[in-house]
Amino acid sequence: MSEADRIFDELANTLSRWGLDEIPFTESASSLDLSQLREVFTGRTQELREVLTLFQGRERKRILVYGWVGIGKTAFILEVLSVLQRKAKDTLATYISLPSETDLATAALIALARRMEDDEWAQHQLNLMGLRPKKRPVQKTGKSKAGISSTGIEAEETTVPVTSPRFPALSFEDLLERALKKYSRVVIAIDDLDKQDPARVRELLRNDQGLLKSGAWFMLTGHPSGLTRDILTSNLGLFDLAIELKQLDQDTTYRMLVNYLNSARPKNARCDFDDPSAVQPFTLETARTLCERSDGVPRWLNRLGSYVLLKAATVHADLVTDNVFRQGLEYAAHQLRGQRGLTAEDYYVLDLVLEKRTLSDATVTLTDLERLKAKEFSEILPILEKLVQFDLLRRLPSEQAAEYEPTPLLIGKTEQKEDKAD
Ligand SMILES: Nc1ncnc2c1ncn2[C@@H]1O[C@H](COP(=O)(O)OP(=O)(O)O)[C@@H](O)[C@H]1O
Ligand SMILES: [Mg+2]
Repeated sequence: MSEADRIFDELANTLSRWGLDEIPFTESASSLDLSQLREVFTGRTQELREVLTLFQGRERKRILVYGWVGIGKTAFILEVLSVLQRKAKDTLATYISLPSETDLATAALIALARRMEDDEWAQHQLNLMGLRPKKRPVQKTGKSKAGISSTGIEAEETTVPVTSPRFPALSFEDLLERALKKYSRVVIAIDDLDKQDPARVRELLRNDQGLLKSGAWFMLTGHPSGLTRDILTSNLGLFDLAIELKQLDQDTTYRMLVNYLNSARPKNARCDFDDPSAVQPFTLETARTLCERSDGVPRWLNRLGSYVLLKAATVHADLVTDNVFRQGLEYAAHQLRGQRGLTAEDYYVLDLVLEKRTLSDATVTLTDLERLKAKEFSEILPILEKLVQFDLLRRLPSEQAAEYEPTPLLIGKTEQKEDKAD
């Protein structure tokens, strides 16, 4: 047996001793297929109620879902689309992750055309844009990567550069008209606007106001920045409902952890929330600590959970004890810092924030800025926002000033002890 075989078997054995088929955590909701998402989706009852109530009505609505990176916007809209697809009559639900450098009308056109597989004109539009047309309806019922084609919601990210049509808004209108002959409701979800700079989002929306006033329902994901939000909601009056997804409470986070672990257990071995072995291989205590550390941000729970279990597997731990958990935290901090795509400049800014604990216009010094070859704090905002996308920093929820601090994923146990001591 080769070394690789041996290691592979050893890891698989550890997982099976934990009663798990795999490590269930994922970073992004778009890498889950819809049946997996249904198994793990937790909470958001109030928000679901608000959105789904609108779908009882006939009048089309435009919905903005906004909140921090990793708070669960993608998961939320996929969950809504999935239930619509299964239960709402005569509804065509479409999804697209906004390709970079693409306007909203083009994105909407792509999302819709992809779901109109039988419509030759729609497929021709895709062809013109250099995208793969789907001539024949997809009849797969098994799991594809996103598994989502089986229920019809396309969660595949568009990575190819798109040649925009000349009149995307008009082409979209035409296609929508065709779609509305077959369906009484067309829903276009355009995701990942939150990944764009707020100023760009504002511009996109300004340019495509007409689109949002067309006959389709829209669901967009937005940036949490207070300023952008006001412009989006009140000034332009573009949205009928703006929902902010907030951090989950500890109980919900705990249930989410149980749901994830259960999703990797054989069907007959799944546990109830109040069964302490539901969090196995975590102990009740380390499960609680994991939830606290994740601070109600689903992506942080996923990342931390995954790093801790990977570490536990490499040390062949039967249980994630306090000690194993601490090693997991260190491993997580190490892995997060080592993510690909970070430049020397990014590290410099990160270390500055770690050193100062919070960084804002008020706490940055001239020397700090000089070392970064910047004149003003605003010049380093793009770097800070990038570090937020990497789960290294979070932006504090202050409406006026941009203020950043390290995420709880980065802070090692030693520091935590210091905090308790002082
Ligand atoms: N309500 C939820 N229940 C279970 N998992 C969730 C929930 N919300 C988010 N997640 C998970 O957390 C991670 C980040 O969520 P995502 O929707 O990608 O965040 P966002 O789009 O806001 O950046 C994903 O793995 C996602 O599946
Ligand atoms: Mg998202």
